[in-house]
Parts: sequence; C-alpha cells; structure tokens
Amino acid sequence: MTSTPASPVSILEPLVLRTGLRAANRVVLAPMTNKQSHDDGTLADEELAWLCSRAEGGFGTVMTCAAHVAKDGQGWAGELGIFDDRHIAGLRRLADALRERGAASIVQIFHGGMRADPEVSGAVPWTASAAEGARTATSDDLEVVIERFAAAAGRAEQAGFDGLEIHGAHGYLFTQFLSATGNQRDDAWGGPLEHRARLLREVARAIRARVRADFTVGVRLSPEDFGNARGIDLDESIQVARWLADDGLDFVHVSLWRSNLNTAKYPDRHAVDLFRAALPRDVALFAAGGVWTRAEAEALLARGADAVALGRSAIINRDWPERIADPEWVATRPPVSIAELRAAGLSPAFAEYMRAWKNFVRDDDA
Ligand SMILES: Cc1cc2nc3c(=O)[nH]c(=O)nc-3n(C[C@H](O)[C@H](O)[C@H](O)COP(=O)(O)O)c2cc1C
Repeated sequence: MTSTPASPVSILEPLVLRTGLRAANRVVLAPMTNKQSHDDGTLADEELAWLCSRAEGGFGTVMTCAAHVAKDGQGWAGELGIFDDRHIAGLRRLADALRERGAASIVQIFHGGMRADPEVSGAVPWTASAAEGARTATSDDLEVVIERFAAAAGRAEQAGFDGLEIHGAHGYLFTQFLSATGNQRDDAWGGPLEHRARLLREVARAIRARVRADFTVGVRLSPEDFGNARGIDLDESIQVARWLADDGLDFVHVSLWRSNLNTAKYPDRHAVDLFRAALPRDVALFAAGGVWTRAEAEALLARGADAVALGRSAIINRDWPERIADPEWVATRPPVSIAELRAAGLSPAFAEYMRAWKNFVRDDDA
C-alpha cells in the first residue's frame, strides 16, 4: 500500500454536483480544440476516438472542444458544430460513448465574435464595437445569438450530454463584450459592468430556461487580462461569476494558464481563493492551467476548487488519472515528438496542430 500526500480532498475522490451529476473523480479533460471535425461541423471518428481514449484513461469528466452555436461564430476549420440539428446524431454518438466508458460529458459551446474566421464562416465577423475587420453588433445580432445559444443547449441535452460549458473566456464573443477596453458601446450592452455582462447573463438565463433542471450548466471565465482576454479585470470577473450563480449556473471554470501563480492584481491572493469565497458553496469551482502533477492538482483542491481540468498534460499523458495513483509515476512533459503524440492517441491532424503551441512539439521530429 502506498500513502498519498495529505490533502483535504483527494483528486481521485468522486465529484458530485448539485444537479446530481456524479463523476468518478475530480479530474476533468479541459476543452481542447483539435481541428478534426468535418467541414459541416459534424463529429469525425478521430475526435470521437480522442475523447473516448481520455475517458478510458480515467478522466472523470470529459469536455469537448469549443463547438460553435452559429455558423457566423466559427473560429477555424475543423471545428465541432452544434448550430444545426444535423449535428445531433454525431453528438449523441459521442455522449453515448463517453457514458459507456464511465465519464461525465460536458460540451463546450461558443461563438467567436470578432475572432470568427470569415474564410470558414462566410460572414463578416461582429463584436461589441467594430475592430480588426469586425463590425459592431446590432441588437438583432444579439437577440439571434442568445437564441442560438439556447438552441445549442437544447441540442446538447437532446444528444444526451450531462451538461454544457458556456465559453466565456479567452477573448471570444463574451470576453469581447465583458472587456472594458474593447466594448465601447453606450447602449444597454456596453458601459458599466452590468451592461457589459448582459449578453453572457442573458445567454445563461436563456439556456437555464431551455434545459431541464438537472442538466449541468457552467461557464468558463478568464479572471484577468491575459493573452487574448483583453480588458478583463479580476474584481469584475468575480462579480460576473456571482451574477451567473444567481442566474442558475452550476459551475464556474476559471482558466488560469499558470495556476501556480497568484493573481496579477493582488499578488498575495490566488484566483481560486477569491472565486471560492465569492460563490455560493453549492456552485462548483473548476480550475485549469499548468497542472502536471497530482500535488499541483490537489493544491488547487486544497484552496477550494472542486475539480481540476488538464489540457496539455492530458494530451501527452492519456491515462493521467490512473497513473497518479502511483506516487513514483512522473508525467511526460513537452517538448514531445509527433510520433509520441500519435502514440498518445492523437490523429495526424491533431498532432500537427500541436505545432502551433509554443515549445510543445520537438522540432527535430521529421
Ligand atoms: C490544443 C489546445 C486547444 C485548446 N482549445 C480550447 C478550447 O476549445 N476551449 C477552451 O476553453 N480552452 C481551450 N484551450 C485551453 C485549455 O482548455 C487549457 O485551459 C489551457 O491549455 C491551460 O491548461 P494546460 O496548462 O493544462 O494546458 C486549448 C488548449 C490547447 C493546448
């Protein structure tokens, strides 16, 4: 028998959400775009195989990549779609396969806003305030997109997923509206935080009204200005999370990128502590960013996170949740070769896509 490090909660203990959703452990496969879907947004076998392999590797909850709720929100080629009923059959295959493998299933839904790619969407991108080739959203655009999110949620439920995550992070549509710098509107959708958060809140409420009460609905947020999430303030993000809890969301997922660091705004405070203190106890808190070891994951749980999402470490280490039971085991870290990624269950397209991530793929690989 081996003993595990002392921690108030083990990462391998079950996760139970207030909706009744139960996952075998507190390890979540982070939402990760993998460019493998068919051109019409339907699920491809490669994407199914990738997500199933992580369910088989013991990830208690598996999240899909960002799936677009409207054609004009598509960010890149090979992106999963959830904007039309023709997507339901593939999504159902995926939800069924994940359930058979014992994983809880969450589909991430999003709209790219000004980061939608007109080459693939066929439309002029729109956002809060015209910028970078994007036009200013009309109130019609906003009414339509709220309904698109609700309809996508209905499809996720119909397909048999356990829940969904609204992608409110990383500089896509909702971040563009939340942004104090990018959103220059002076109508009901811009200006004070109440207005900048309105689109995300209306979407959250419309989704909550559309799906059954025990269908898990959460949101991913970028707590601070980082990377593509510009004009985002920590205190504002905490307030937005509180409002979304009022609106009936079941979990908040903070995307931290470097979860071992405290916040930029308050260098002696950690985002997980702050969000946990701000949220009602029955609203779960997920955290992600730079977790490679069990100790790093459990440090986030000790702060009050309920679950920890793994991105890059899950790409390389297909059975991370099973392997960490062995205290001697050491996760493989980048850079890795394309051959290693293929051996980890990535299709050629996904493995090649990982070259876009700095220092991830070893250059000496042919
Ligand atoms: C290949 C790749 C694709 C990603 N795609 C998404 C995505 O579709 N939606 C999202 O919210 N985050 C996405 N992310 C961010 C991850 O979910 C995660 O938050 C980030 O990689 C930090 O965690 P990590 O250090 O464990 O990788 C992606 C990350 C990677 C590496």
